[in-house]
Amino acid sequence: GKGAYDHYMLKEIHSQPTALSNTIEGRIQDGEVTFEALPAGTFEGIETVQFVACGTSYHAAMYGGQLLRAADIRTEVVRASEYESASGPVDETTLVVAVTQSGETADTLDALRTGADHGARTLAVTNVVGSTAAREADEAVYIRAGPEVGVAATKTYSSQAVSLALLTQRLADDVAHATPADDRAEMLDTLADLPDHLEQILEQNAAETLAQETIDSESYFFIGNGLGHSVALEGALKFKEITYEHAEGFASGQLKHGPLALVTENSPVIAVSTGGDDEKTKTNALEAQSRGAPIVAIGPDDTPLTDIADTHLSIPETHPVWGGLLANVQLQLFAYHAAKQLDRPIDKPRNLAKSVTVE
Ligand code: F6R
Repeated sequence: GKGAYDHYMLKEIHSQPTALSNTIEGRIQDGEVTFEALPAGTFEGIETVQFVACGTSYHAAMYGGQLLRAADIRTEVVRASEYESASGPVDETTLVVAVTQSGETADTLDALRTGADHGARTLAVTNVVGSTAAREADEAVYIRAGPEVGVAATKTYSSQAVSLALLTQRLADDVAHATPADDRAEMLDTLADLPDHLEQILEQNAAETLAQETIDSESYFFIGNGLGHSVALEGALKFKEITYEHAEGFASGQLKHGPLALVTENSPVIAVSTGGDDEKTKTNALEAQSRGAPIVAIGPDDTPLTDIADTHLSIPETHPVWGGLLANVQLQLFAYHAAKQLDRPIDKPRNLAKSVTVE
């Protein structure tokens, strides 16, 4: 049940420290990333990795894809419904990774099957043991987030992103041409602190206050660059699906190529910092600010975005690889509290289903 929570979504947001501990459990040993199903050498011969996914899972795949590229592995992140037209060449040196919480999304299964038909090796990253994706792929990695009841994916996004970050290290060990990040030890050490960092965010009520202050807005724009780009897209998706308000996410630098025409004093711009380089986000947020838009910075206290922001939602300091996950939790809370004020049916938004089994 929902226990003390008004909605499953809020319960699931609050269960992320536990869910993530389960995701990580036993997978880092003596500074090495290990997956039982993927012994050393599993990925030898792989030259290209293609992620296929939909919706929130696509945003997690974008996150993982950037980390793989940083390890110098050829990577594509493809919306599963566009796989036939948008993927590059596929052969036996390709690994197709289906990222799917339910393991039942028709578009994602279709892309997985198409990849396999072309000779690719396949991997499912999923929450559901025995799901179709897990059964059909050559191998499966379970994200271990526990069952998710709310239609809006929350804890499963966080567990997917962490699973993919770990998978990146595992793949890099087998096939990267460059050595993995120099600061890998530090990255893996700070991962152990992530559940505590999440607790610190869950104790705040800054997102609820922000929701109250911005509830009469016309549109909500979410921007970010680098790893923050996918977080901005995810923030906007979550916001629109449960509030029914107009929300869009953009790569920070793209705002001036069209969307800026929609920016007014009635459209807050929520600028995401993961603790990396935020200059692009800052310059573009300034453009929006000079058109009157309220600017909300989500990020660590030392992000340069705080110099210009009207409101700042703080995240604990961590490795830049994990900062986006913390920022995303603030965005989950923002969406939740906005939807609650608007009295929306948060756990079952209109027109949406938990798993989409039609193409
Ligand atoms: C958004 C949401 C959807 C799913 C998408 C893929 O909150 O839940 O966008 O992420 O339908 O579902 P799975 O991951 O089950 O393949």
